[in-house]
Amino acid sequence: MNSQQDKVNFCGSECISQAVETRTKIANKVNKRYTVTTALPYANGPVHIGHLAGVYVPADIYVRYLRMQGRNVVFIGGSDEHGVPVTIKARKEGITPQQLVDRYHNIIKKSFENFGISFDIYSRTSNEHHHKNASEFFKTLYDKGCFVEKTSLQFYDEDNKQFLADRYIVGECPHCHAEDAYGDQCEKCGSSLSPEELINPRSSISGNAPIMKETKHWYLPLNDYESFLREWILDGHKNDWKTNVYGQCKSWIDQGLLPRAVTRDLDWGVKVPLPQADGKVLYVWFDAPIGYISATQELFENPETAAKFQTDGEQATWEEYWKSEDTKLVHFIGKDNIVFHCIVFPAMLKAEGSYIMPDNVPANEFLNLEGDKISTSRNWAVWLHEYLEDFSNKEDVLRYVLTANAPETKDNDFTWKDFQARNNNELVAIFGNFVNRIMVLTHKYFEGKVPTAHNLQEIDKNVLQEMLQYPDKISASIEQYRFREALSELMNLARLGNKYLTDTEPWKLYKTDIDRTATVLNVSLQIVAHLAVLCEPFLPFTAKKMRLMLGLSEHFMWSDTSREILINEGTALKEPAFLFEKIEDDAIQKQIDKLKNDRE
Ligand code: 2FM
Ligand code: ZN
Repeated sequence: MNSQQDKVNFCGSECISQAVETRTKIANKVNKRYTVTTALPYANGPVHIGHLAGVYVPADIYVRYLRMQGRNVVFIGGSDEHGVPVTIKARKEGITPQQLVDRYHNIIKKSFENFGISFDIYSRTSNEHHHKNASEFFKTLYDKGCFVEKTSLQFYDEDNKQFLADRYIVGECPHCHAEDAYGDQCEKCGSSLSPEELINPRSSISGNAPIMKETKHWYLPLNDYESFLREWILDGHKNDWKTNVYGQCKSWIDQGLLPRAVTRDLDWGVKVPLPQADGKVLYVWFDAPIGYISATQELFENPETAAKFQTDGEQATWEEYWKSEDTKLVHFIGKDNIVFHCIVFPAMLKAEGSYIMPDNVPANEFLNLEGDKISTSRNWAVWLHEYLEDFSNKEDVLRYVLTANAPETKDNDFTWKDFQARNNNELVAIFGNFVNRIMVLTHKYFEGKVPTAHNLQEIDKNVLQEMLQYPDKISASIEQYRFREALSELMNLARLGNKYLTDTEPWKLYKTDIDRTATVLNVSLQIVAHLAVLCEPFLPFTAKKMRLMLGLSEHFMWSDTSREILINEGTALKEPAFLFEKIEDDAIQKQIDKLKNDRE
């Protein structure tokens, strides 16, 4: 410690600086391999901007960046096709749950492809492989004696002859007194509930008051894992997990954990593999996270998809990505999923005994829309497939806005006006404008060929030196899951380019000093090329356009950006094309009207 730091030893700043130091150290550690998972969305409807902002765009930025670092990573996604949210919607539409999930799985999968979410596999939990795997996982825990078997009285709808699990039972929330709280959660205040806590419970199928009936279920005694969870999370991840995630875990653990039922009386889901469990399925939150493992197995069982994952000609196996201590497992989720990914699933993995624990669970808060909570049932959402109908080829604009305004530390609001402003004032006016000016000037003065850099002046050397600091800055932010910060650094590099142009004014120089003009444009083109490589995790479609325009190879790695020269003199550039275009007021008004008119 130097003398300056010696003086600053009151706890506040010391603790903060220690935490930052630990985070940076941990973030800089390179792991042998990475398993990155994204919450499996329920296949009971299409996906909207909240999904993209909270989970899939940040995960995709992280994975694309890791790949550019040459790290070994599998990126796992899929649809969550079981559970009451699916059966309720199917009943409402008068179709079978399978028909419903077939429809939405395909729509969701397509939306992710369209937005460039670069999964290595996008699977689904209604498939045979997953049923077999989840069933075996349950059986392993059962055989090891990990479950407690308990008979209890549960709500039952006599008209429909059905137990009322989870969302089949509704009633008044005991905390905020909202009318329509579910048996497992109140959507209004976010409390996690159990059915017997509801005031005036009623069946969401018939609306009738339920009776109580005896039924037997299997419970995972989370209380047995308390000391393990305390040590692993509360002692082990205080400094590297996000405060919202750590705080929620701490509050769950401090309140005391209880046994949780992992089976349900339903006919849709993975059948409980026990002879005495007819008519029972695994609880959706038991089978869904196992879906991450099933998808990884599918990826490695298919020779075509597995071929990508070889080291020195040796085929990798799924186990390495889930059981090897030198693998870093990261779950990207929304805040409503924290308890399942930090407490329940880890307890299941621990009970099984051969799995690693997640290294981090960078959960985001929620994205609101025009000041109101996004809601599927009220149709208050911007659906991804509809966005693309109105803004085709503007996938990166949405990725940009959702990252710049990501709910990383608190709930945030998406507004169409902000979308327009960020497009027009940032992507068009800063990033696009810089690239376009350089392309146009190079075509005008040098027939579209990268001109020679002659004697570098101080200003050129300084700008190049500053440019070379961006890869590390962006990288440090990404490794710490601070994607907003990383993106704003990328924009600062574009700002640096604009400032350099304003300071050097090559359009004036051209009349008197052609060599100096050539030097300035060469230096500027190096900045453009660095932008093209560094923007790839955030704006993959733009990165591709830029590579084509600049005649750059596809195979630039992150480490290449530590070189000053990425584009050689003499390289022939393609015709300049605008990367982004201005969005006019009427296009924005149309979206605002649509949102309000479609509201249910
Ligand atoms: O909250 C949800 O939408 C759940 N379907 C997430 C499941 S994540 C995982 F465990 F599969
Ligand atoms: Zn409530």
